[in-house]
Amino acid sequence: MKFFLDTANLDELRDAAAMGIVDGVTTNPSLVAKEGKDFKTLVAEICEIVPGPVSAEVVSTEANAMVKEGRELAKIADNIVVKLPTIAEGVKALTVLAGEGVKTNLTLVFQPLQALIVAKAGATFVSPFLGRLDDIGHDGMEVLSEIRQIYDNYGFRTEILAASLRHPLHVAQAAKVGADIGTMPYKTFKSLLNHPLTDIGLERFLADWKAAQQ
Ligand code: E4P
Repeated sequence: MKFFLDTANLDELRDAAAMGIVDGVTTNPSLVAKEGKDFKTLVAEICEIVPGPVSAEVVSTEANAMVKEGRELAKIADNIVVKLPTIAEGVKALTVLAGEGVKTNLTLVFQPLQALIVAKAGATFVSPFLGRLDDIGHDGMEVLSEIRQIYDNYGFRTEILAASLRHPLHVAQAAKVGADIGTMPYKTFKSLLNHPLTDIGLERFLADWKAAQQ
């Protein structure tokens, strides 16, 4: 399973990337707005820190305008992925951009048919938002599992990018269900390695070592 970081914060990205297991980055307009920087400059910096796929989202809602924005975003760096909303206009834009060889990430997916449609239209990545489904009492993991089954039934090559992962259990379950990628906030990424017995064990090893030196 590949790990993407869901952030536009450069300090978080540099720190996480140093572990050598960050395969890509997802951003969205809300995350970019929090940084208060010029969008394209920020995205270019992110693309330098992480050489893997970096999703940058369009803010237009009409297909031609999305295509125009997408083409501009794709010029920023070779590893840019144009993120498009999963609405009819987004699928039209996807068809054009995919035809031009631009990588795409279809976002805000909440049910399997949306995922089936964007795969048919040639999306590079599909982003089901698991946490936001759980927030309203639906089963995000079940939706992920249905998308996996549909893609496997028909051999779609669109990669399933499990998004809106809020805690380590989400990441572990998404891996079990067979998501190709999990994108998560920095806080979740940092907590993946945590276990109290690891901390207690290390503390004990160091204390025993110190005692033997006296
Ligand atoms: C992914 O591409 C999205 O930016 C992200 O996972 C949304 O997560 P949230 O629901 O925690 O905002």
